[in-house]
Formats: sequence, C-alpha cells, structure tokens
Amino acid sequence: MPQDVYNKLMMLAKRRGFIYPSFEIYGGVAGFYDYGPLGSQLKHNIETIWRQFYLLKDSCVEIHTPTITLYEVLKASGHVEEFTDLTVECNKCKHAFKVEDLVKAGVSAEEAVQNGDVSCPDCGTTFTEAHPVNLMFSTYIGIGTGRPAFLRPETAQGIFTNFHLLYRYCREKLPFGVIQVGKGFRNEISPRQGTLRQREFAMAEAEVFFDPENKNHRNFPDVKDKILYLFDNEKEMKLSLKDAVDQGVINNQALAYYMYLTQDFLLTVGINPKKFRFRKHGGDELAHYARECWDAELLSERFGWVECVGIADRSAYDLTAHIDASHVDMYALRKFPTPKEITVKKVLPNMGKLGPLFKRKAGAIQKALEAMTTVPKHPLILTIDGQKISVPSECYEVVETIEKQVGERFVPHVIEPSYGIDRIIYFVLEHSFEEIQKKDEEYRVLHLDPRVAPLKVGVFPLISDERLVEQAMDIDRLLRDALLTTFYDEGGTIGRRYARMDEVGTPLCVTVDHQSLEDLTVTVRDRDSTEQDRVPVDTLIAYLKKRLG
Ligand code: GLY
Repeated sequence: MPQDVYNKLMMLAKRRGFIYPSFEIYGGVAGFYDYGPLGSQLKHNIETIWRQFYLLKDSCVEIHTPTITLYEVLKASGHVEEFTDLTVECNKCKHAFKVEDLVKAGVSAEEAVQNGDVSCPDCGTTFTEAHPVNLMFSTYIGIGTGRPAFLRPETAQGIFTNFHLLYRYCREKLPFGVIQVGKGFRNEISPRQGTLRQREFAMAEAEVFFDPENKNHRNFPDVKDKILYLFDNEKEMKLSLKDAVDQGVINNQALAYYMYLTQDFLLTVGINPKKFRFRKHGGDELAHYARECWDAELLSERFGWVECVGIADRSAYDLTAHIDASHVDMYALRKFPTPKEITVKKVLPNMGKLGPLFKRKAGAIQKALEAMTTVPKHPLILTIDGQKISVPSECYEVVETIEKQVGERFVPHVIEPSYGIDRIIYFVLEHSFEEIQKKDEEYRVLHLDPRVAPLKVGVFPLISDERLVEQAMDIDRLLRDALLTTFYDEGGTIGRRYARMDEVGTPLCVTVDHQSLEDLTVTVRDRDSTEQDRVPVDTLIAYLKKRLG
C-alpha cells in the first residue's frame, strides 16, 4: 500500500527520535505521544520563539499554575456543564464516537442522529440517541473526603483566577497580557487523528485583558496594512487588518492584531503560507465562553484543514463568572479625566442579624454583600460555596453616600490566542518534509528553519583518520562552547552522514578534511542547496551564527 506523507513522516519521526507512541511496550493508547530527543529539542525551540513573540514583541508576562484544578474553578467557568462532546455509543460493539466526527461539516449533529443518518463506523449499527459527555479528566485532591478536581482543560483558568494580583502587578494599567505554556488535558472520545488529537497536550495561551471602551489597540497602527488570509466559511479573502476591522469582518483591533501576530509566528516557525488560513467560527461552533473566534487552520495532506490556534474574543465572560462565584473583586478601574462627585449606594451587612441566622456562613455572606455593586433585589439570593442562600432584607442596609470618584469600575474584556503546540510541531514537520527519488532509494529532507531545527550543525571528519578526528572533535567542542547544538559523527561514508543530517533538518554541516590540517579551514555544507563554502576555523563561529539567523 502506498504510504502518505503522514505515514512517512511518522515513521521518520519514530526512527529518528522525534515522536514515539506512548506506552508502546504495553500496546499503546490512542491520544498519547512522547517526544524523543530531537522532538523535545524541536518543541523547546518552537516554544522559545513563541515566548519571544509574546514576552518580547508583545510585552506579556508569564505565569505557571497547577494542572490539577479545583472543581469550583471549572464549575464557575462553565466547563463542568458545557465542556462536552455530543457522543454516541454502539449497543452492539460498545464503541463510542463523537458525533461530529461521523457527520459532514455543516450538518447538525443532533439532527443527523434524530434522522437516523449516523451509524457505527465499526459495525454499521444505526445510532438512535446521542448524549453530551464531559471531556475533563476528573480526580480528587487528598484522600477520604478529598476535594473534587479536574486536570485542566485549558491553561487560561489559572490566569483568570489570578487576575486581581496580575492587574496589580501590571500597575493597574490595561491592556496587559499574561501567558502560560503547559499541559492541557481532554479525555477525547475516540481520537483517530494521530498526533493531531492528543488527550494530554502542550498548550501556549495568552489572555490579553483590555478595556472594551477603548477601541484602539496600541500595536495596531504598526501592522494595520499587513495582509491576513481569511475564510468566512463561504469565501476566501485577503484583507489588510485595517480593512478587515473597518468592514466589520473582524470585530475589533485587538482581535485583528493577535491574528496577525499568530500569522507572523506560524510563518516564522516554517508553516507554508499556501497551506495556512484563518477560518471564522460559525455561531454553532463557538465555545461557551466565546463571542467570536477565528481559527488558524493548517492544511495537511491526510487530514485536510486542521485548527492549530484559536483566537477568541472571550469578552468579560470568565472574569464575571469568577467574580460571581468567588465574590473576589476582579474589577479594573477606568479613570475619569477629572474626579467626579457622585452619589453611591452601598450595601452594609448587619452582622448582628447575619451571625445568629447563618452562623459559619455569615462571614462569606458579609463578603458577598460588601462586594455588591448594585442595589439587591428582593428576595436576595446569593450563591455561597455552591449553595443558594436567601438573605432576608433585615440582614443588610442600603446607604447613600456622596463620594469623590477618580474613575469607574468595570470588568475587563479578554482576547485569547490559544495555540496547540503539538499540532504546530506536526505541521512544521509536514510542511518542511520533502522526499526525493534518487536512483533506487528515497532521499528525505526536512527543510526546517534554522531557528527551529533541533540540531544546528553536523560536525564530521571526512574520513576516520586520527588527525582529522582530533580536529573535528576540537571544532565540535568549540561550537558547543559557543552554544550551538551540534552532532558529531564519524560513522559511514560522508554522503551517508550528510543524508542523516538532511533527514532531521540540520541546516549546516562542517567537515574537516586534509586541507584543514594544512590551512585551518573547513567546509560548510548547506542542507537545502547542498553547496559548500570553505571557511577559516577562526571565523567559523561568527560565520555559522550569521547563517543560522
Ligand atoms: N483556551 C482555549 C481552549 O481551551 O481551547
């Protein structure tokens, strides 16, 4: 059977230490993959470039939060109720499937099952009912009466739950962005897309907080004339950022700017611009927290267009949900040009009544009352620790005071670029893969950008002559001391050694030959052109660093 690019690439990836199926000695399990030595380095390089985009170009700050996340957080965020896939389970063969995987794009999954149009791909039985299944892995913190928790489905919630601290850290000025790079977990129903649908996966997310009344994004003017490749599910468009926002194709400047940053990043790490587009989510595809979302989709020979980055306008959804559930003040302040005197109504808790009536819950109710920014309606129902509590009106008083106010409080909005790093790694490999038919063998080259290539330089003695070996090893040490990742190899013919480096995408190879012993020069071979330059050893480091970018 002829192999497609996916098969060829995965064979190469396994043989050359990029990607291994996890737990293979026990039969493996769908949706889990390991990175081998070269894959780990490739991942590291891609994440480093990602950080350069978000921490340096965009001045975000980075945090790390636990992957195990308290039930309350994901209850408030809506994931407990909403983070589901409509699923069918076969009565006969007991296999389960996500309905979306079994219907054509654009067809309503519910309707297709109701109409009897969906059948088991393994045994042909027609499905008669579907039900939503939550995709989060659940666990407990502690034993006995441990607290329920989940493995996080996104890194974003760790950022939202720290908003008030980060707002202070960023000197209470908007906009500011916070990034997190780490693992996310989704218990996919039946992952069938290899490394493209993993159950434990690497995410890189940015949550950018901004004032929705400020329609301008500070970096927009610098990039407004750049062109975005857009697809609105009907037609493909090439529009400047400015035209896209002016024509209402993209909702706001911040969203357009982060789409451009994403495009710039993907092309920098080696995505083929002809296999790249942004596709707008239709209303029925939007996640529960999003009011607009554009996916950066990449084209794969086997799987077609695949979402690799989602850039969502999450509005005030998450912070509002956490304010409501935790009663912690997560507002920002919009300063007035000059302070204003205004009449404000405040809720003053009456502890004399709250204490005897609510005992241990009184403190939490007091906090919730003090945090209220609107006059309570009767009956006042508060949610405390997940329990609805009716608070009688004698437990608090609404008082009016004149206050000098320097500004007004509001819940910031959020733009979220969310990157699936493993998918990007796969596409960097697929888009850089070339197979050349040479006489009776297939010759493979990964045309990786030097910045992402796991190995930067191969170092070889032309033949295994002791003097050449010694000089090549000295050069290898010299390059490593200069922080270049090298691979020293003296095994097999020089052609074989070049081929091994081409196959793993090493951009340059340095060879020590007999002339090197006389004049202290070496040859440097280029992976893509296969051309060679002769370079003095004393300028070699500067030469290589220039070529590697
Ligand atoms: N945070 C975006 C996502 O979960 O896909």
